Amino acid sequence: MLLEINNLNSYYGSSHVLQNMSLNVDQGEVVALLGRNGMGKSTTLKSIIGLVKPRSGRVVFDGREITGLRPYKVARAGIGYVPEERRIFPTLSVLENLKMGIKKGRQVDTSMSNPWTIERIFDYFPFMGDRVAQKGATLSGGEQQMLTIARTLMGNPRLILVDEPTEGLAPLMVKKISEVLRMISQAGISILLVEHNLKEALSVAGRVYLMGKAHIAFSGTVEELEADAEIKAKYLEV
Ligand SMILES: Nc1ncnc2c1ncn2[C@@H]1O[C@H](COP(=O)(O)OP(=O)(O)O)[C@@H](O)[C@H]1O
Ligand SMILES: [Mg+2]
Repeated sequence: MLLEINNLNSYYGSSHVLQNMSLNVDQGEVVALLGRNGMGKSTTLKSIIGLVKPRSGRVVFDGREITGLRPYKVARAGIGYVPEERRIFPTLSVLENLKMGIKKGRQVDTSMSNPWTIERIFDYFPFMGDRVAQKGATLSGGEQQMLTIARTLMGNPRLILVDEPTEGLAPLMVKKISEVLRMISQAGISILLVEHNLKEALSVAGRVYLMGKAHIAFSGTVEELEADAEIKAKYLEV
């Protein structure tokens, strides 16, 4: 198992927002974490990458315990994080934004078969190659989202945690983001995807966890979720 979360408990002050949370992601998988607003999806990602320090439980990545490590150490271990708020650098160019991703992630070593380079990013995201000098702030919302994802790839993660990447985007851009995620998955990167958009999530993921308040209410394959109208009605807006 690439990522294992076991009985994680996280709090904001006295409010117990993750209660014995467990989930896992295998090498090569795309796993969706779904659920209504306020259930604890973002907090789950933050508890993995060290922005929220769990009070108990374990996070194990590639056989190594990383529970409560600082975010930069988790990034160096090989986990990339694409937060809900697209954090591009608005006054930096596309190229400068991409370069910011390099030092945050894993250092390239000889064991890495196909490290991410600027050229490879331009193959995947041609618009960036055409607009290297353009300032981040002048990109559209969807382009900024792609730049955030591309910058994360520059850190050579083995797993990326992506929080609601299609939020607020036009339908065509939503489709493009889903294509980008499928492409990244085909490049061998594992993905834990938080989504509110059920249709898009299911078009990318193979397996699904559904959150009720602070806990996992359902886990199964995409097909199992599709077939379960009762669970969908109870835990999702469908
Ligand atoms: N920084 C914070 N301080 C206090 N409470 C928070 C904070 N962030 C989130 N919460 C609360 O924790 C719960 C889980 O939030 P979150 O993980 O953001 O849910 P989701 O991503 O599923 O919408 C919610 O009740 C939310 O209001
Ligand atoms: Mg959230």
